[in-house]
Amino acid sequence: MIENHAMQNLPPYLFARIEKKIEEAREKGIDIINLGIGDPDQPTPKNIIDKMAEAIYDPANHQYPSSVGLLAYRQSVADWYKRRFDVELDAKTEVVSLLGSKEGVAHISFCYLNKGDINLVPAPGYPVYGIGTLLAGGESHIMPLKEENNYLPILEDIPSETARQAKLMFINYPNNPTGAVADIRFFSRVIEFARNYDILVCHDAAYTELCYDGFKPPSFLEAPGAKDVGIEINSLSKPYNMTGWRIGWAAGNAAAIEVLGRFKSNVDSGVFQAIQYAGIEALEGPQDSLKRMQELYQERRDIALEGLEKIGLEIAPPKGTFYLWVPVPAGYNSSDFAEAVLEKAHVVITPGLGYGEHGEGYFRITLTVDQSRLAEAFDRIYAAFGSFK
Ligand SMILES: Cc1ncc(COP(=O)(O)O)c(C=O)c1O
Repeated sequence: MIENHAMQNLPPYLFARIEKKIEEAREKGIDIINLGIGDPDQPTPKNIIDKMAEAIYDPANHQYPSSVGLLAYRQSVADWYKRRFDVELDAKTEVVSLLGSKEGVAHISFCYLNKGDINLVPAPGYPVYGIGTLLAGGESHIMPLKEENNYLPILEDIPSETARQAKLMFINYPNNPTGAVADIRFFSRVIEFARNYDILVCHDAAYTELCYDGFKPPSFLEAPGAKDVGIEINSLSKPYNMTGWRIGWAAGNAAAIEVLGRFKSNVDSGVFQAIQYAGIEALEGPQDSLKRMQELYQERRDIALEGLEKIGLEIAPPKGTFYLWVPVPAGYNSSDFAEAVLEKAHVVITPGLGYGEHGEGYFRITLTVDQSRLAEAFDRIYAAFGSFK
């Protein structure tokens, strides 16, 4: 049987291809250092696991959850927004639980795009923005993120005819893969644009809690008028090392939250309740583990910056995310470079081309391996290639 048109155009997920290469190398007995995928290496904090252990024994938690999430969980998200950003949210109408932010990012396209409708998608960017669009039958209009613009899209470059056909726009700060951050002024410009063209903005805020040097990334919802035009999607995956648990939320514009909740009630039936109680503990319990994670990633970031300097590839220190976005050395494209580094140094890096043509010329490294392995990765690259300067 032939799969449908959208599935035929669906590439294998970027990291599935990289995993295959790693597996092949490991089968040959090679010790690989993987600076590819952004999956925290540290365990989920104990207070969260303990809460899960308690909740899992309660039979009331074994039944279908509410597809939009327990009110207690949604309230804890609303309270967290008030504490963290001074943003008021109505837990009943302005928050919906998600099975991780990836789920909401993919499904919002199904809620807002009819066949041929345009989604304004940043590139390089998290691949699911474009993939959700493709599966929903929409079309991506790429907003290039360039170093000279601090990896912010230039809204004036979007042709007005395209903007008129657009129904959705994704933005993501702190940004994967570039590590760039945005301020309220930028969010305000996005809000004005969205208002002019009647577009729903979806801010992917998965990295707001991974930040360095005292910088506190803002929420899109802090910008005046944000709730009129947009939602913010966030998750417990990265700040609390809960990638496997699958829990997040969307918050903001009540009409969009209702539509997403209605979609979910027909598709996935929500997050296992015991996990929602663990999520409440993550948001409301002691935050010392988050502080330790921020310090750990900052230490690793500095090791990586030193390592990059050693191999002659210097970049400005990112203020957020656990990614470094680095120009490839002269004479390589990103795929050739990633392949050479894997072959000669047995280190996995992500070629920028994996994030689309606008990622070409760069590679991404992830700070989710321990400090000694991270330092060793750069020693290996130096031993294999010397300095690229
Ligand atoms: C920008 C961005 N958004 C969303 C996600 C998805 O995270 P999760 O579904 O675990 O919340 C990721 C994961 O790497 C990401 O980088």
